[in-house]
Amino acid sequence: MAFSDRVFSGIQPSGDLHLGNYLGAIKRFVPLQNTHDCIYCVVDMHAITVWQDPKKLHRSTLEVAAAYLAAGIDPKKSIIFNQSQVVEHTELAWVFNCVARMGWMSRMTQFKDKAGKNSEKVSLGLFAYPALMAADILLYKATHVPVGDDQKQHLELTRDIAAKFNNDFKIDFFPITEPLIAGSAARIMSLRDGSKKMSSSDPSDLSRISLTDDADRIAKKIKKAKSDPEPLPSEEAGLKDRPEADNLVGIFASLSGRSKQDILSEFGGQGFGVFKPALAELAVEKLAPMNKEMARYLDDPKQIEDILRDGAERASIIAKENMKQVRDIIGFVK
Ligand code: TRP
Repeated sequence: MAFSDRVFSGIQPSGDLHLGNYLGAIKRFVPLQNTHDCIYCVVDMHAITVWQDPKKLHRSTLEVAAAYLAAGIDPKKSIIFNQSQVVEHTELAWVFNCVARMGWMSRMTQFKDKAGKNSEKVSLGLFAYPALMAADILLYKATHVPVGDDQKQHLELTRDIAAKFNNDFKIDFFPITEPLIAGSAARIMSLRDGSKKMSSSDPSDLSRISLTDDADRIAKKIKKAKSDPEPLPSEEAGLKDRPEADNLVGIFASLSGRSKQDILSEFGGQGFGVFKPALAELAVEKLAPMNKEMARYLDDPKQIEDILRDGAERASIIAKENMKQVRDIIGFVK
């Protein structure tokens, strides 16, 4: 069976959308629309693996959708929807709970990091989360998934699940999905600690640039970003062991679409007193239009809800057809 090229990706509506989500994910989703059938999901069922305030969950779901739209994802060309509107995600996730092995799931480093010493107290959903992610992808037989480095292991699990299902039932049904991993330039770290990923769960608001920050806040956060006393090197090798400098140069590179080396050729020998204002100016210039568009969409939540509903209907057609076949393959009576 041949699989036509289809992209699936998702972002959780759990807290502020930030620069890491934009540069590492959303921005990369846009050009894929020219080469693939794309499905971009707001994965609200993933978000509730940790408790979410219902009002905030609702608002964050609209915000992620607004960010997709503001970044240039075309809801006519691609499918934009929120996961909970297509119930087959949970149904396939259950099947995959029965395909995946405890040992595989126990090796997921994101679970170990998130649960930490608390592993007896976290939800069962948090443990099963990667099986739901595999269901998201395989429900549409997606062949390519753009994700950050941190999701690589979950993608490998998705491939293992697809292969085991195909093998268990002696059928070539699910594709073995390829990750489209962003280069290190798209890996955006905390502004307060260059060794930690920029994250909406970091207690410090200064650690991230939110997509809803205005120009003043963006400039303030970059000014306060942790750096070091040395001038910038002229060669990329000089960024080694300088995680904060590396991150700020990486953000500059990613926002401008230039290489880190190119940035260092321009700023090498200069201190952060010069580099930070230039970065702040660039960030404001690049993010302001996006910020404005997001605000325009969020002014009219009904319009976003209509787009999500329409997307969910189109997604459901594919999901229902594939799920029907999965039920037949398993042997469920219909
Ligand atoms: N687990 C992903 C994250 O936290 C979000 C996600 C859920 C996802 N389902 C997906 C990403 C399917 C890609 C494909 O970032």
